[in-house]
Amino acid sequence: MNIETLGVIGAGQMGSGIAHVAALAGRNVILHDVLEAAREGGRRTIERNLARQVEKGKVEAGARDAALSRITLAPSLDDLAGCQLVVEAAVEDEAVKRDLFRKLDAVLPDTAILASNTSSISITRLAAVTRQPQNFIGMHFMNPVPVMQLVEIIRGIATSDETTAAVVSLAKEMGKTPVECRDFPGFVSNRILMPMLNEAVFAVHEGVATPDAVDTIMKLGMNHPMGPLTLADFIGLDTCLSILRVLHQGLGDDKYRPCPLLVQMVDAGWLGRKAGRGFYTYSGPGGDRVQKG
Ligand code: CAA
Ligand code: NAD
Repeated sequence: MNIETLGVIGAGQMGSGIAHVAALAGRNVILHDVLEAAREGGRRTIERNLARQVEKGKVEAGARDAALSRITLAPSLDDLAGCQLVVEAAVEDEAVKRDLFRKLDAVLPDTAILASNTSSISITRLAAVTRQPQNFIGMHFMNPVPVMQLVEIIRGIATSDETTAAVVSLAKEMGKTPVECRDFPGFVSNRILMPMLNEAVFAVHEGVATPDAVDTIMKLGMNHPMGPLTLADFIGLDTCLSILRVLHQGLGDDKYRPCPLLVQMVDAGWLGRKAGRGFYTYSGPGGDRVQKG
């Protein structure tokens, strides 16, 4: 299937990254978010990250300008009607995603592919709210999208070979390495990553060490590019908590029980870097770290 125009839902960290990479790969992108401020913020993030790539000599100035001209901000879901593929990257909340896919199903032609960038939620269950579940798939990009190589491809029970082939081929054209896995809670990436991040939160909760000490131990001791609490702040603590709840409920094992400190921080609105405060404090939403936790 030829995908010329791609819709992206959610202009947060992931949606803006997906739009950025798809536009650089020559696709027209319609970027939708419910919030105007998020749409404008998404565009600014894309401009900033493309400028950085131009400065580093990774992208030509002409390619940046062409990519930016291919991205259209869309206030309404109806604006996605002409897309051959829509990648949903709204919040990690099953009710929100189900509602979005129900509406999209009514707007798009029967041939369109619907993909979710969900970190953990059942692709089979999301597909079940649409009329064409064979056209539904998980296309799980990693953060930051312009940098990370992997796209985890998750087939629901009904996903067709044609849908999988189209999405695998698009991921490769976006310069990524697609890897397939089955539809289980948290798939592979977050089933393995989140218990480690949760354990790091427990270490702080139980007073074993400060956030900075935990991060330094894991960075210098295990050669991780970011310590687990810096990474949790980077992902978003709300997203980490939602994923852990899906793992806990879906796999039925208490080893996935979210740390009470994580729950409390999310309750307080300390969602990590995107909120300006998490385990560390940042200069503002999405800003640089200014002091230790
Ligand atoms: N857009 C474009 N380029 C970016 C970028 C962005 N948003 N962020 C960083 N870069 C580029 C930088 O320009 C730099 O390029 P060069 O190599 O050409 O210099 C390169 O990436 C490295 O960046 P920095 O030098 O600024 O910083 P760094 O060396 O600390 O690397 C990092 C930053 C790549 C984010 C690194 O810290 C890292 O890999 N962290 C771990 C990220 C990770 O684990 N992601 C997965 C999260 S889990 C997930 O995504 C799944 C889920 O469902 C939750
Ligand atoms: P984010 O909080 O940065 O952005 C989410 C965006 O969705 C916001 O701009 C919000 O306004 C928008 N939104 C909420 N409800 C909406 C609706 N009904 N219609 C349209 N837009 C709506 O979140 P994010 O980190 O970009 O995560 C988005 C998705 O990607 C989640 O499913 C998350 O699990 C997944 N994901 C996140 C990461 C990560 O590291 N943060 C990595 C891979 C996958």
